[in-house]
Amino acid sequence: MRRLCIGSLAAAGLLLAGGMALDYANQRDATAIPAARSVPIAKLQAARQSSSDLEVGGELAGLPPGVTRYITREDLLTLPQATYTVSDDSNFTGPTKISGVPLEDLARSLGAAPQAAMVVAICDDKYRANYPREYVAAHHPLLVLAVNGQPPSSWPKDSEGHGYDMGPYMISHPIFKPSFKIFSHADEPQVPWGVVRIEFRNENTVFGAILPRARHAATPLVKAGYRIAQQNCFRCHNMGREGGQKSGTPWLVLSAWAMASPEYFGA
Ligand code: HEC
Repeated sequence: MRRLCIGSLAAAGLLLAGGMALDYANQRDATAIPAARSVPIAKLQAARQSSSDLEVGGELAGLPPGVTRYITREDLLTLPQATYTVSDDSNFTGPTKISGVPLEDLARSLGAAPQAAMVVAICDDKYRANYPREYVAAHHPLLVLAVNGQPPSSWPKDSEGHGYDMGPYMISHPIFKPSFKIFSHADEPQVPWGVVRIEFRNENTVFGAILPRARHAATPLVKAGYRIAQQNCFRCHNMGREGGQKSGTPWLVLSAWAMASPEYFGA
């Protein structure tokens, strides 16, 4: 699901208007991931061989940061698979059997810092879904390889009726129970489809791009706006190289809007 969600514009507006200058003092502590299980290492290819290959990047084990590699669908299928019947994923119209590789296991198999990596899923339309460690520990997202036992060519089309293919990869959860609520923004399932690339990143680097700064950084409303923006706005509005570029409207443009027309964010 990639709908526009601006229910919490007010707090995000405060973040954008007040929080954008100096000082990185406010980094969030990370939640620890349970001890590593042994997961086979997936085979990485230097070049794409098929449109169904998954692109991987960020910080990969044994490789310099920033390089891109590819994994074939067949190789992903050799990793341990989890299977669930989901009934609360808005991408499906009814209870649906999904199977694939838990993002925790993918990070353990591929990430340079498996205990520390945030997983970022990037879609063909430049939407980005971020999976901080806290989210992964709470919701156990799954990189879906099969829907009702079928490969992407037989998957249902997008549930909004546009007729889009949801492959080559999508992300779902066994079940989703929101783990926080800030104003009108409840913890939202991050269920992108059309996923083409997965990155393993340092959470502080990614969210650091929009970290509230200067004298307003510690105020509760700006902190709330930051939390909402991390999970909501940053999926489609980028700050430099970080964040999604789906909207075509970068962070500093939003910031200028918030300062010039704060009433616009009162929705
Ligand atoms: C699913 C993607 C998506 C998310 C999530 C998202 N936006 Fe946007 N946003 C867009 C798109 C696309 C546009 C451009 C709309 C247009 O040009 O008509 C936009 C435009 C805007 C604009 C410019 C004004 C306008 O109406 O064109 C503002 C301000 C804005 N977004 C704020 C936010 C805030 C704040 C959040 C988080 C609470 C957010 N957006 C979350 C996609 C998104």
